[in-house]
Amino acid sequence: MQAKERIILALDVDHQSRALELVEQLKNHVGAFKVGMQLYNSMGPDIVRDIQNRGGRVFVDLKFHDIPNTVAAAGRVMTRLQCYMFNVHAAGGKEMMARLVQEVHKEAQKLQVQAPLLLAVTVLTSLSQQQLEEELFIKDMSVEDLVVQWALMAQAAGMDGVVCSPQEIRPIKQACGEGFKTITPGIRPVWAAANDQKRITTPAQALELGTDYMVIGRPITAAADPVEAAQKIIDELEAC
Ligand code: C5P
Repeated sequence: MQAKERIILALDVDHQSRALELVEQLKNHVGAFKVGMQLYNSMGPDIVRDIQNRGGRVFVDLKFHDIPNTVAAAGRVMTRLQCYMFNVHAAGGKEMMARLVQEVHKEAQKLQVQAPLLLAVTVLTSLSQQQLEEELFIKDMSVEDLVVQWALMAQAAGMDGVVCSPQEIRPIKQACGEGFKTITPGIRPVWAAANDQKRITTPAQALELGTDYMVIGRPITAAADPVEAAQKIIDELEAC
């Protein structure tokens, strides 16, 4: 995979105009654009088509979590939108993910389109061990063990990979194999501000840990010259 293909730019903005300005500037420097709850809920599915019409691929980051029938229906919609990838919460369970996989592949075959990559979110990186025990009542298990167990469950359901912290890449790849995809946020080149990210990894470190895709937002979008910032990250990855 080319270095730039690994970069997924987080379009954490409200407006179509700013989002599409970034798409026009950066479509030749990144592999895909991530549309999350902020932008999708402001602009609706048209924003996905607008990005695609400009030649960009889209990761729809809406983290579905509902009964199997409802998530499978949302998956058919995502397939019709022809997004590049989208995600669900592994906490929705194996049946929810298995139904999703089945329906997405059926729909893709019916439409003769590529099925989106199906990703599971395991334990949100914002949750601490203490919250896991005191608020979710998951005891006697470390966050890392839970992440690996949920990644294994996602894989058994037929999912393509997980969104995880760079620290979790090695244990997940060891358990699930190198072919099971990892998508990692929390990426900060040494020259960029950490912002609110706590456990950060440089693009080169994430690549060395074996990540497949890295979600990067502010180091590129808040840079004085976003294209130059993206190119510096590509150069860093190519030097690995
Ligand atoms: O601007 P920054 O590079 O911090 O953006 C990271 C993106 O990845 C944001 O869209 C954020 O919501 C997302 N994300 C994250 N940490 C997670 C999961 C998602 O930063 N654990």
